[in-house]
Amino acid sequence: MKLLVVNGPNINLLGLREPKIYGNKNYCDLLRYLEKLQSELNIKIDHFQSNHEGDIVDTIQDSYKKYDGIVINPAAYTHTSVAILDALKAVNIPTVEVHISKVSERENFRQINFIREYVIKSFEGFGIEGYKYAIEYLKDYLNNQ
Ligand code: DQA
Repeated sequence: MKLLVVNGPNINLLGLREPKIYGNKNYCDLLRYLEKLQSELNIKIDHFQSNHEGDIVDTIQDSYKKYDGIVINPAAYTHTSVAILDALKAVNIPTVEVHISKVSERENFRQINFIREYVIKSFEGFGIEGYKYAIEYLKDYLNNQ
């Protein structure tokens, strides 16, 4: 089983950015965490982060026939990007959404979510542990298909 974890803008600044909202763990900690999960769960996990919408769209397009599942935190693009939604729909790979913060309890503009209509499941407000929940959920989902 091969999964791709995609992170959007400013996720590379974890640890530095608004620690009260996003916690103290930095992006390297997140990558180390994914590596640990990879061996614990015995699945291959690749990762990608970009601050650019088009690069995220390209990466989703490139994942066609390469990955069994996608875990995505589109960050701010969650609330703006029809292009990312369309790319996910196009490749039609089972996808789980993660948000580090509890987005549903934040500002009104964050209540708009373009990718929710496509994803099979969303996890929010669990810090970087949310990625673990998403990966475990996707693993179970794919094993039961
Ligand atoms: C986020 C929530 C988004 O609203 C925000 O723009 C982010 C991160 C989260 O992980 O909580 O950059 O996706």
